[in-house]
Formats: sequence, structure tokens, C-alpha cells
Amino acid sequence: MKLEKRDLVIRPRRLRRTDVLRRLVRETHLHTDDFIAPVFISAGENKKNSIPSMPGVYQWSIDRVNEEIDELLAAGIDKIILFGIPAEKDSTGSDSYSSNGIIQQSLKKLKQEYPDLFIITDVCFCEYTDHGHCGVIENKDVHNDSTLSLLGQQALSHVEAGADMVAPSGMMDGMVGEIRFALDSGGFDHIPIMSYAVKYGSAFYGPFRDAVESTPQFGDRKSYQMDPANIREALKEVELDILEGADIIMVKPALAYLDVISHVKDISNLPVACYNVSGEYSMLKAAAEKGWIDHDSAMMEMLLSMKRAGADIIITYFAKEAAQLIKIKK
Ligand code: PBG
Repeated sequence: MKLEKRDLVIRPRRLRRTDVLRRLVRETHLHTDDFIAPVFISAGENKKNSIPSMPGVYQWSIDRVNEEIDELLAAGIDKIILFGIPAEKDSTGSDSYSSNGIIQQSLKKLKQEYPDLFIITDVCFCEYTDHGHCGVIENKDVHNDSTLSLLGQQALSHVEAGADMVAPSGMMDGMVGEIRFALDSGGFDHIPIMSYAVKYGSAFYGPFRDAVESTPQFGDRKSYQMDPANIREALKEVELDILEGADIIMVKPALAYLDVISHVKDISNLPVACYNVSGEYSMLKAAAEKGWIDHDSAMMEMLLSMKRAGADIIITYFAKEAAQLIKIKK
């Protein structure tokens, strides 16, 4: 048979014809090991408080948080990041660096019960201060350098209580270097720092602030969190954190910042994490509740897009559900 020119047309659809073929040429795969699950721990007893703006996410008291950990482990998630809601908040957020603070108590208990669970702590002040800002206030703004030494103290006390990695999220200049110095001086030079290097001042944190009751009592966080319009500034933040000794670099939020994830991946050899934040979670939950979108496929598509953009690690409230789905498909 003689070939006509039109028969030589290139046909990308050939590789999309069947599921097995699509799997063969798939470029990005989600794995349970990609995920870190956030866990909220609140002072008090016998608590499993639902968070209205985050369906499926709870504030747990220390005595009941094992219910959540057991479910995560059963799904295959063995990495968590802890957030604390203390009994009392004050002007410097002292619960966050007290050896008897909510996070320190949780760490001691969890490490005893689950020695293999990898526990990361969020290192910041907004959940612990009565004004809701991420540090010490002077002249109606967070004072960078007086916050730094407290950040060092907080990180060290987390690690002394058993944290496997610390994740500073306050966007203070010099925070990674300060924490590295505090940990090394305390004999913890083997503990890595995952820096929220690029954290934008985002409306997508709204539901999280309900979860930890950390809405600023005055003003906003724009004098320390980044302007969503900027990407070159993000690269500057990444370079600085690398120089200060960060081990993992994070971009946050994720979904509206996939371009940032991709740029950060290009300029750095460190593992890149992203934080699929509360607002991104709640938007999908709300639309799915209304029957407007297919929850599971939209969830997997969102997570996949973060990985495709370059994220090696995804912190997500979907961790358990996504891991369960991955398991079923296997
Ligand atoms: C600060 C912190 C925040 C989040 C993680 N760490 C909130 C903020 O900056 O207001 C947001 C997480 C989310 O929205 O899911 N401790």
C-alpha cells in the first residue's frame, strides 16, 4: 500500500488510548511518602472539637490525639506537623517556649507512644500570643530581632521535648540562622530545619486562623509575610535561607503559587516543600458538599499539580484521604 502524506501525521492520542498505556507514560506520580499531615492539639481533656470551616479536621486534646494518629498511620502517613492551641495566650507567647507548653507535652507523649512517628513542629508565635501576631510587638509592629531569640528558645525546647524537625513559619529575617545556632549550641546539630522560606500574606489562611484562634487582634501580617505579587523576592528569601542553613525550603500557599514552586525548584538543590493551606482545603470541601465538584478527583488533581510544579513534599489536610485513595488503587 502506498502511504499518503496525511498518514504520517503525528498522533499524540496514540499514547492516551488505554489506561495501561497512560500509566506507562505518566510523568508524575503521587506517593503516600509525599505527604505530611497537620495535627492541631488543644489544651484540656477529652476534646475532639470540629472546626466548622475545615470539615474533617479537629482540635484534639493530648489524651485523645492518638485516635487521629492511629488513623493516619493506618493510611500510611507517618509524618505530621504539630500546631498547638495553649490554655492561655500572653504578649510574648510564652507557652510556646515553656518546657511544659502544649507542644512540649504533646511531643513527650507522642514520642513515647509512637517512637517511629516523624514529628515536625511549626515554630511561630501567632497561636500563643494574645495579640495574634507572630512575634513580640513594639510600636504596633512585630519587632524582628527581639522575636529572633525567642524563636531560638522555642525551637530548642521543641527539640528537647522530642521534635524530629522544626519548621519556622514567622517570616522573621534571620530566623533560620538563629534557630540553627540555638539547636547546634544545644547539641542538636543533627536536627533539620524546614523553613517556610516563601510565605505569602494570603487570604487562604482564613480557616486555619479559626482552627488555632490566631486572627491578629489589630492590623495584618503584611509587614512580615510576602506580597502575593512578588516572585523575585521569593527567590531572595530562598537564597537567604539556604545561606542560613535551611535543609528544606517551603512555599506557602501552594495552589495559587505553583509558578513560585517551580521557580524555587529551579534555583535550589534542596528538597522543596509546599503547604496546601486551609483555604485551599476548605474551598474544595465546600464545593463538594454542594455537589458542585467531584471531591476525590479534584483533590488528587490539586495534589498532583503541586508535585508536577516541583514540590517534593506536600503538607496537606488531605493527607489521610489521599493516602487512602492511593492504597485502594494499588
Ligand atoms: C503560622 C502559620 C499559619 C499557617 C501555618 N503556620 C498561619 C498564618 O500565617 O496566619 C497557615 C496554615 C493554613 O492556612 O493551613 N503559625
